[in-house]
Amino acid sequence: MVEKPGSHQALKIIEDQLPSPGPGQVQVQVKACGINFADIAVRLGLYRAAKGLYPLTPGLEFSGIVMDTGDGVDEFSKGDRVFGVTRFGGYTSCINCPAHQLWQMPEEWGFEKGATFPVVYLTAYHALHKVGHVTTSDKVLVHSAAGGVGTAALHLLRINGNYSAGVVGSAHKVEAATRAGADVVIDKNSQALWARVEEISPDGWDLILDANGASTLKESYKHLCPTGRLVIYGFASMFSPSGKKNLAKLIWYYLKTPRFSPFELTTDNKTVSGFNLIYLFDKVEPFRRIMETLLRWDAKGLLPPMPITTYPFEEVGRAHKELESGQTVGKLVLIE
Ligand SMILES: NC(=O)c1ccc[n+]([C@@H]2O[C@H](COP(=O)([O-])OP(=O)(O)OC[C@H]3O[C@@H](n4cnc5c(N)ncnc54)[C@H](OP(=O)(O)O)[C@@H]3O)[C@@H](O)[C@H]2O)c1
Repeated sequence: MVEKPGSHQALKIIEDQLPSPGPGQVQVQVKACGINFADIAVRLGLYRAAKGLYPLTPGLEFSGIVMDTGDGVDEFSKGDRVFGVTRFGGYTSCINCPAHQLWQMPEEWGFEKGATFPVVYLTAYHALHKVGHVTTSDKVLVHSAAGGVGTAALHLLRINGNYSAGVVGSAHKVEAATRAGADVVIDKNSQALWARVEEISPDGWDLILDANGASTLKESYKHLCPTGRLVIYGFASMFSPSGKKNLAKLIWYYLKTPRFSPFELTTDNKTVSGFNLIYLFDKVEPFRRIMETLLRWDAKGLLPPMPITTYPFEEVGRAHKELESGQTVGKLVLIE
């Protein structure tokens, strides 16, 4: 639990009593809990959706075993293996979660896979298909291509048959992005990023996924072709590896974040969109349909395994530190 936002020490393990599940809720004994970049923003007090909710337990996704069900829940019973999403509260040993945010876990999945699947694949699918309106002939550029969402996006682009380029921030991530399906990988640490982006596609890009924010947004927009779409869904470059709120960096970041002009957008024939899934968890039907598609693809073996690093719950601070270092590949997960 984070009582008061701050550095890694702000994460405290506490003991508390969980009430019985209410109507429409399912009580799940949590076996694994996925870590997302948003959890860092929650810990630091920088996540808008968490404002006013402290003391707050972070965590947006988990997997486990059903212990009990509330009134009106027919689709789950005690002993079911499930995975789900939650608007905070996932870093726990037991949770009451609305039934519509849960899914039965495929038999062959382990708890680690269940706890790392929903956020990144729902995000990548929503970014590409719902917001980015990807078509098979689109050339797509994916920033942070070896991270959780980046890897999931590359998996989905391969299924769709797109030409894709993945951008990564260090040499050790090149292989991971290639394995995830990128046709070409740019290591921006050793290559001039935008010169290489132009060299690969001189006419620009149809679709760019950017969750860095200020560090790349302006140039991402510039490198769209006419009718191109820039999809914004995160601001990772706002964070500091120190694990603390860096006020000077936040001010710099705010000033450097581009403001898109309606005059320019119409003249350039470009689209800029943004989204945050956390505000859409109650849109039950669209997300159930997306999850059905994802589970079907997974059952057919179309989604390769995601690289996963596990941490005991007690080492949640170390897990945050590593995600904040910007050096991790794939997903991080807490296990009991
Ligand atoms: N809007 C939504 O609904 C939604 C849902 C899920 C995730 N997200 C966002 O999507 C992004 C990816 O999330 P994720 O959980 O899968 O994380 P991730 O991609 O596994 O890790 C973040 C990556 O961002 C890059 N990065 C750039 N500047 C950084 C900085 N200052 N500190 C640390 N990393 C930095 C690093 O990759 P490179 O150096 O290789 O670029 C790093 O590996 C995050 O911005 C997250 O907030 C949004």
